[in-house]
Amino acid sequence: MRALLRIFLPISGLFFPIPASAQNADGARLFQQRCATCHSVEAGRNKAGPHLSGLIGRAAGTAEGATYSDAMRSSGLTWDGQSLDTFLTAPGRMVRGTRMTVAVPNATQRAAIIKYLDGQSAD
Ligand code: HEC
Repeated sequence: MRALLRIFLPISGLFFPIPASAQNADGARLFQQRCATCHSVEAGRNKAGPHLSGLIGRAAGTAEGATYSDAMRSSGLTWDGQSLDTFLTAPGRMVRGTRMTVAVPNATQRAAIIKYLDGQSAD
């Protein structure tokens, strides 16, 4: 058993080298770099894009006071981890005609951003 652990622990370290807290920091940093020009995570504070506080569980196109395309308003989506992952991969492919054009092609970075957004509650 000991011998097995000696082999397994270094290997698992290879696959999971980043502690959860560092992943959160990464999501925050990515959000600042890629999204914060147009989005805040403060409830009610819309920029060029709608605020993204309390996004998980929110129906698409419904942030109060934000300007949306018809495409987004009538998309019928509710944001969860899966729909956000698909949307951020290629926004215009999921919501044809959306004015949000910024894609995050890297799956690890998408996951970090979505996790960060999941932590930004509506209050
Ligand atoms: C250049 C400005 C800009 C950037 C940068 C940007 N967005 Fe957007 N985003 C928008 C606009 C504008 C909309 C509204 C789109 C529409 O109505 O079709 C939007 C909509 C969204 C929505 C739908 C929100 C809702 O209320 O339904 C999500 C989710 C979103 N963006 C996430 C992101 C993420 C995550 C990033 C960073 C990776 C990002 N956006 C970067 C402009 C931007």
